Amino acid sequence: MMKTAMVWGARGGIGTALVKQLADEAWTIVSIVHHRKGMSELGAEVIEADVADPESVQQAVDRAGEAVDVVDLWIYAAGDIASEKVGDMTSADWERILSANLSGAYRAVHASLPLLAEDAHMVFLGAVTERLRLPGLAAYASAKAGLEAFADVLRKEERRRRVTLVRPKAVDTALWEKVPFSVPPGALKAEVVAQRILEAHQEGGSGSLDL
Ligand SMILES: NC(=O)c1ccc[n+]([C@@H]2O[C@H](COP(=O)([O-])OP(=O)(O)OC[C@H]3O[C@@H](n4cnc5c(N)ncnc54)[C@H](OP(=O)(O)O)[C@@H]3O)[C@@H](O)[C@H]2O)c1
Repeated sequence: MMKTAMVWGARGGIGTALVKQLADEAWTIVSIVHHRKGMSELGAEVIEADVADPESVQQAVDRAGEAVDVVDLWIYAAGDIASEKVGDMTSADWERILSANLSGAYRAVHASLPLLAEDAHMVFLGAVTERLRLPGLAAYASAKAGLEAFADVLRKEERRRRVTLVRPKAVDTALWEKVPFSVPPGALKAEVVAQRILEAHQEGGSGSLDL
């Protein structure tokens, strides 16, 4: 039977790889993007949302609900990063990073739950937080640590559904253009991350997936 996936952050490096792989496997896809910019290849349904804005998120989910009956695989691959020491970081920058990585995940889940299948699988893109506690990354590291706790609690609340927190090491995407570090040698390709996420989905697991 045809299954439906919803991907948040579908224009990002990992999001794009996920959508391509899902399309290859003949999923119905709802792609949620920050800015559309003519990305027709992102799946049949492309919807704009700013995860920092609860109304925008709710409107996107309402539109998704007009296009599909139910979502089987739900993936939050939106995120943002900045490198600024705490003493230099503005409140607006702190809020932007927390919002894209953590509060946006809450907003997207909160709005999406009524659309999810009873046995839906929710996947969040975290990071190996132990490696993130570096000068300049207070907001990003805090957000990803918070996301781990959020996913743990959600898993206990939504017992009939699956919740997976993916913790990739470095992935070669445009995210790295936002920080003054080079992509480390041996960084994962986004396509590999997408493939491992879809394999984990097929295997039926729940919990953490370290890549
Ligand atoms: N790349 C890595 O090394 C790495 C490692 C571990 C974990 N991760 C995590 O994996 C996820 C995907 O990362 P990526 O590497 O694919 O990064 P990316 O290419 O920068 O993609 C992130 C996506 O999130 C979207 N986004 C940001 N703020 C948003 C907002 N307020 N509302 C809606 N969408 C928003 C961006 O859209 P716009 O660009 O249009 O704003 C972008 O499409 C992130 O959570 C990241 O933290 C990445």
